[in-house]
Amino acid sequence: MSEPGTSSVDDYRRLIEDLERGIRPVATSVDGRQFAFQASLHHLALQTGGYVVLQRDGETSFGQILTLRPDSTEVQTGADGGPSRVTIRLARGEGVILDGDGRTFHDALARPASSEEVEAWFSGVRPHRSALTIGEMLLAPGVPATLDAGGFNRHTFMCGQSGSGKTYSLGLVLEQLLVATSLRMVILDPNSDYVRLAEVRDDNGSDLATRYAEAAADVTVWGNHADADQPLAMQFADVDNAAQAALLGLDPVKDREEYAALDGILAGGRKGQALISGLDALLQSENPDVHQLGLRAANLGVLNWSIWSQGRGRSLVEELEEPTARCLVVDLGSLDTVEEQRLISETVLSTLWRNRSRREPCLVVIDEAHNVCPSRPADAVTSLATGYAALIAAEGRKFGLYLLTSTQRPQKVNEEVLSQCDNLLLMRMNSEADLGYLSDTFSYVSPSLIQRATTFGLGETLVAGKFFPHAGYVKFGARISQEGGADIPTAWADPGPS
Ligand SMILES: Nc1ncnc2c1ncn2[C@@H]1O[C@H](COP(=O)(O)OP(=O)(O)OP(=O)(O)O)[C@@H](O)[C@H]1O
Ligand SMILES: [Mg+2]
Repeated sequence: MSEPGTSSVDDYRRLIEDLERGIRPVATSVDGRQFAFQASLHHLALQTGGYVVLQRDGETSFGQILTLRPDSTEVQTGADGGPSRVTIRLARGEGVILDGDGRTFHDALARPASSEEVEAWFSGVRPHRSALTIGEMLLAPGVPATLDAGGFNRHTFMCGQSGSGKTYSLGLVLEQLLVATSLRMVILDPNSDYVRLAEVRDDNGSDLATRYAEAAADVTVWGNHADADQPLAMQFADVDNAAQAALLGLDPVKDREEYAALDGILAGGRKGQALISGLDALLQSENPDVHQLGLRAANLGVLNWSIWSQGRGRSLVEELEEPTARCLVVDLGSLDTVEEQRLISETVLSTLWRNRSRREPCLVVIDEAHNVCPSRPADAVTSLATGYAALIAAEGRKFGLYLLTSTQRPQKVNEEVLSQCDNLLLMRMNSEADLGYLSDTFSYVSPSLIQRATTFGLGETLVAGKFFPHAGYVKFGARISQEGGADIPTAWADPGPS
């Protein structure tokens, strides 16, 4: 038997539940562009970023939910003998009308759009230029997610925490760009992740694999290993003057004698000569300033770097100026020292910038951008590289230089580089501070869409910008090409012999 009073509590709970379940999902728009809605929290089918159909008077609109939160309200019950006013909980939110005719409405019934309806809307807004299929819509499974290739004439920013799938997914974007466009690409590859970009994974004879294999024949890998297509090398004379001085740690004022000696040597040198072995010979020089310069280069270990071509073979700078392949993978990860990686990065960026007046469109891909163009460069060569990245970010577009930068730490990338990016690919990110920073930078994206990045799984991403019709969630598909930069095997975690 129930205790006295229990049944009235049960009645009360039932009343509340009935009222909460009875809330109809309805939307109102006072401007024909945005809508506010409410729905029951029971079996809630609407979700942030999801697509909805709004139905009223025989008309339908297609929209997207931008915010969704639990809320409460007081209602009149009218129940005999019961409370006259009770508090019930419900879901409230706002959204954007994507296909509206601008007419206002009130109490339109809101329901999740089916995959067919989402597909129909995306097909209607698909660009006439090449569409790059990168996966499917996260909240409308089976609907292909495509980027507008033409949108890569803006800078693109990709970010996500370590292991969120940036490198894998960036590879997929590059594959699609290779197969569906003729855009030239230069890839700064710090972890040798793209050295196998030309190798098709499972050559299953599919049309896409065949077309990819053809396009990938135009990928060339420059690296310091036997499998590379070309040794990653250049001459000291290829390095721009500021970087030469920076590399040797020379200050034009404090080290004026050595600086002048360097200047003299460079002025006397000719392209094609083995200038660095000339630097080597400086150690034997009778001239004390020249001897000092030689000592400096020797002490810094510069003379032993593998990137000096000693005048043999093609230089990276020549390749950048007169490309023999459409896609150049610069395998920074194959170099022995971080100083060489920095100098090569600086040389790539400065060379592209120096030749900007040729106006040859080129996508400059920078993975781990917080190392190449950081907000606070820790050394003089990186400082120069960052300066060129910022110049390309600010003014490169008019010369056809487009950036695609990827990082784990948006706040550690040069501010100018980040702020000039129009396209965003945001993968899983837990740091509230980083998400807040991104919301400020990409202010055209609803902050609540950005916030959901904390819940993303592997390969899930928020896509926004000129290359996508309207900010939304995408799940990246499978790569065609092989991944490089294999993880270190974790055999050490296996149980040993008992
Ligand atoms: N869509 C995907 N499908 C299958 N595997 C994936 C997918 N995305 C990533 N992976 C795998 O997950 C792992 C982590 O991905 P990835 O290296 O791309 O992460 P990351 O964000 O670049 O990390 P880091 O910032 O540490 O470089 C890799 O082993 C990769 O092969
Ligand atoms: Mg990575």
